[in-house]
Amino acid sequence: MGATEVRGMEEKKIELLSAGYRTWHLANLIMFSLLLVTGLSLIALPWLSWLAYAVGTPLATLSGLDPDAYAVTAGVQLFRTLHRLFGPIWGAVTIAYFLYLLLSNRIVIHRALLKPIGVQLREAFYVAKAYSIGGEIPEDVRRHMHRHNVLAVYANAFLVIGFVLLGISGISIMFFTPAGDLHRLMIVIHNIGFYSIMLFVLSHIFASLHPRNFWLASAMFGNGMVSEKHAREDMPAYFNEKK
Ligand code: HEM
Repeated sequence: MGATEVRGMEEKKIELLSAGYRTWHLANLIMFSLLLVTGLSLIALPWLSWLAYAVGTPLATLSGLDPDAYAVTAGVQLFRTLHRLFGPIWGAVTIAYFLYLLLSNRIVIHRALLKPIGVQLREAFYVAKAYSIGGEIPEDVRRHMHRHNVLAVYANAFLVIGFVLLGISGISIMFFTPAGDLHRLMIVIHNIGFYSIMLFVLSHIFASLHPRNFWLASAMFGNGMVSEKHAREDMPAYFNEKK
């Protein structure tokens, strides 16, 4: 997220997304996808029974079990074990990265929330309009736009809520092995956490791959550099503050 300046042949480029941010994002994407596949095989087995079967057939055979009877069970048990391994790793990496950003004073995402609520709602309306039916964001709204627009920040709230719910219930299920009603309650909390994170992920992927933001997605999966003009137009309040 540093702002190293590089002069290109025709247009000035700046590094908006640092190597650390991009590496963390890629690791996050991979770990989240692994958790999604292993987790869905536990809560939505009919969708993924083919995968559990494919993974479980050699596993059952190697374990001396009859693959015709135990392939899916063996596959699901492997996914359960992997889910319990990837969950804490994802949690630890995310908390470590968050603490690093906090301690090095690099968190700017909340800045959009410091604006008066009326200004936030106006921005939310015009950003939603631009994403759905198109049209330009009026100059007076754009002037207040920070590093992340308010809709992106609201979407991130679902990520934070989901992360906390998944963490509390996941730790409780793994380390305190609750039984009966308490166990069922923890599973419900885990599922609500998952749905909350999916609200973030779906809106995040929609916004990131939207033609308006494609320059940002290219930088995220490229070298982190964006045209300064692009960044200034999309996040003027952030640039004016940095000056
Ligand atoms: C096709 C998949 C994805 C694309 C194209 C994508 C793209 C991006 C881009 C372009 C940014 C930079 C936004 C900025 O700094 O202004 C970003 C940030 C971020 N991404 Fe992703 N992402 C994807 C999947 C995911 C997934 C699966 C997760 C987590 C479960 C995730 C979590 C985050 C978070 C937490 C941030 C930082 C906060 C934010 O800007 O919203 N991303 N992503």
